[in-house]
Order: sequence, then structure tokens, then C-alpha cells
Amino acid sequence: MLAHKEGPRLDIHKRCVTVSKKVGLSQARKALRDILSEVNVSDEIKVARLLTILDELGNNILRHGEKGLICISAYIKGDKVGIRMVAEDRGAGIEDLERALRPGYSEDRGMGMGLNLLKSICDDLRIGSLVEGGAYVEVWKWI
Ligand SMILES: Nc1ncnc2c1ncn2[C@@H]1O[C@H](COP(=O)(O)OP(=O)(O)O)[C@@H](O)[C@H]1O
Ligand SMILES: [Mg+2]
Repeated sequence: MLAHKEGPRLDIHKRCVTVSKKVGLSQARKALRDILSEVNVSDEIKVARLLTILDELGNNILRHGEKGLICISAYIKGDKVGIRMVAEDRGAGIEDLERALRPGYSEDRGMGMGLNLLKSICDDLRIGSLVEGGAYVEVWKWI
């Protein structure tokens, strides 16, 4: 059991995993599952929802960004657990944010619902670009 008294504690648990066509998302899924079990999140519905979030982040790296890094970390605030996932890649980046967030928009005949889904099911979504180019997508989910 985690000891948590006042206020948030930073970086209780954190893993960063490379995502590429070669390694796919299995390591990232394992990293998320490991962190969730460390912070005692075992409800399969909650776990599945977080895996779905991770999948959307990871698939966007694989389909639109080629390869990248996903960092997953867990935080405690009061009686809540916060999961933060940050996806960074070395692709072309997201040039038109408004268009990318539009439900159904996809540059390559995908479903075009991924970013939109993240926006609706996450507590916070931040999208930007890396200084070197490439996309930066950060989500928070409190459970
Ligand atoms: N990591 C990324 N790098 C570059 N463009 C991206 C990235 N993620 C999303 N996009 C852009 O945003 C669009 C919408 O993404 P999304 O909602 O996940 O739908 P889909 O992946 O099905 O196309 C993509 O088609 C793409 O143009
Ligand atoms: Mg997508």
C-alpha cells in the first residue's frame, strides 16, 4: 500500500518505453500494467480504459510518427491515482491541431477518432510539437 498523506507526490512510479514498428506496443502495455499493479489499480474496466488510451497514443506514433517514446507515470492526490502518459515521436508532427481533433478526420483513412476519444475520456489532453519536430501528446487520467 502506498503511503500518501498531504498533497501530490511526484514520480512515484515511472516507465519510459520505445515504440516502433519493430517492437510494437506490447512493452508499453506491460509497462502500464506493471505501474497499475504497483499502485493497486486492478479493476479490469479501469485497466482496459487505460490500455485503450495507451493504444490510441501508441497507434498514432506507429501510423503517423514512425517511432517514438511513451512515458507512463503514476501520481497520488488525496485518494485518487493519476496516470499520466506522454507520447513523443520523431515524425512530421501534427500540423493542423483543430483538424486532427475533428471527429472522423484521418490523413490515411483511419477511423479518425483516436485524438477525439482521448479528449473525451481523459481529464487533460495536451498536444504540441517537439523542438526538433515530431508530435508531443500528453494525457492525464484520474481514477
Ligand atoms: N503522432 C502524430 N504525428 C503526426 N500526425 C498525427 C499524430 N497523431 C495524430 N496525427 C494526425 O491527426 C489525425 C487524427 O488522428 P486520430 O484521431 O488518432 O485518427 P487516425 O489515427 O485514425 O487517423 C491523423 O490522421 C494525423 O493526421
Ligand atoms: Mg489514431
